[in-house]
Amino acid sequence: MPVRTLRPGNTPDPSSTPHPRNTRRALGTLAAVATATALAAAALLPAGQAGAAGTSLRTLAEAKGIYFGTAITQGDLNNAALTTIAGGQFGMLTPANEMKWDTVEPSPGSFNFGPGDRLAAFAQANSMKLRGHTLVWHNQLPSWVSNLPNGQVQGAMRNHITNTATHYKGKLYAWDVVNEPFNEDGSFRNDAFYRAMGSGYVADALRTARAADPGAKLYLNDYNIEGLNPKSDAMYNLVKSLKSQGVPLDGVGFQAHFILGQVPSSLKANLQRFTALGVEVAVTELDDRIKLPASSADLAQQGRDYASVINTCLAVTGCVGLTQWGVGDADSWIPGTFPGEGDGTMYDRGYRPKPAYTASAEALGGSTSTPSPTSSPTASPTASPTASPTGGAACKVTGETNAWNTGLTDNLTVTNTGSIPVNGWALAFTLPAGQTVTGAWNATISPSSGPVTARNLGYNGTIAPGASVSFGYQATHTGNAGLPAQFTLNGAPCTVG
Ligand code: G3I
Repeated sequence: MPVRTLRPGNTPDPSSTPHPRNTRRALGTLAAVATATALAAAALLPAGQAGAAGTSLRTLAEAKGIYFGTAITQGDLNNAALTTIAGGQFGMLTPANEMKWDTVEPSPGSFNFGPGDRLAAFAQANSMKLRGHTLVWHNQLPSWVSNLPNGQVQGAMRNHITNTATHYKGKLYAWDVVNEPFNEDGSFRNDAFYRAMGSGYVADALRTARAADPGAKLYLNDYNIEGLNPKSDAMYNLVKSLKSQGVPLDGVGFQAHFILGQVPSSLKANLQRFTALGVEVAVTELDDRIKLPASSADLAQQGRDYASVINTCLAVTGCVGLTQWGVGDADSWIPGTFPGEGDGTMYDRGYRPKPAYTASAEALGGSTSTPSPTSSPTASPTASPTASPTGGAACKVTGETNAWNTGLTDNLTVTNTGSIPVNGWALAFTLPAGQTVTGAWNATISPSSGPVTARNLGYNGTIAPGASVSFGYQATHTGNAGLPAQFTLNGAPCTVG
């Protein structure tokens, strides 16, 4: 994990070089992402946000021959707003913690794949590629490993890699085999693996991983190696050495935990020197932290930073994709590590897209129009879904109210105006002030006031194209008996009326 004292001092990259259009090769393995998923994702964005059809980031990225991913945790699976965006907008999933050694093998030889398997299942259900993170890392390493006598570390490492990579064999796009091997000055980190085996542990780990899962691309991954500096020099020299020895190594991951306005100007040159060694490169943990509170100027700068990174990846042949670390600002690791900083992602704490989202979509070839204020989602549902919505949907909501002095009933009808079925729905809206739901039919509604989410029951989860479902609720009110004004269906805004 990046430490607070280590901050890249690079200035913003003002170049943001436009990428050559239509010149990239499609990635064979990634081009296989299901067309159905692209269609499912296509209606996710607020109207007019990114492309004529409101095209998702994953679809835009895949059209350019790269992927756009995100990292989520097992706990995130309970957050309907988050999972809707994760599955709809992103085409690659990295488990943020669930494939790390402390989760997978908390005690010697005792393997726990459940949390990682749940995230793998989510990725599969949403036709997302999966990135294994990570096999060998000094952090989130159980003390039983770091306390081993040197003579036993290699055996433990090989056993861990073999069991873990075998378990996920055939399911992963890539493994981050070794994570964060270097100090800032380019020396090897003096962790349990280095102490026991010297720098040779890296080659040993890669060979062991290749033997266990020949189909997964094998990566080294680190932070503060995005620009030209002593640490990236060390990674470069290591890659060069490994390749010259024929050690199995397919890629280098550049975490890209950036500070606002400090995307290194040498990012492109640096990525290119790695691809020249015969490895692919990827941005694996992108975020761009801001000193809080973020101003609108900060958010605009963040958009330029995101666009700069994306444009750089697009301009480098061999840059296969980008992953944002987390879905929204509410989920980020940053405030816990850098108090007073945060807001590093493309989605705000209510899962509304930020200027960085728009800038990213534009960098990927989406429309240059901006979202209209009335089309932004207004609610941030966090309750567990009763169904698993399959992505955003084009929708229309109509409603009727019957009100009396302190009570009302509302009937709402949701129409699928898109061209693909909605399988499981979550309609988010904000109840007018003073209204409290006391009962509902044909849906569950929670919580009972403020931003709420109505979810389908077992019998009405599917809405075919052109079809509608109706549900309703009783509520008390304190004078305002109006209908909710705005709705989002599985994260996508609906027209009203
Ligand atoms: O599991 C324990 C739980 O039992 C305990 O109650 C709780 C109390 O704090 O902690 C839980 O562990 C936390 C763990 O995430 C799982 O949620 C740790 O405190 C917390 O430090 C840990 O943070 C993770 C961090 O890696 C650790 O280094 C972040 O979620 C994760 O996003 C972050 O990811 C890293 C990448 O793997 C590598 N690159 C840097 C990146 C950001 O730091």
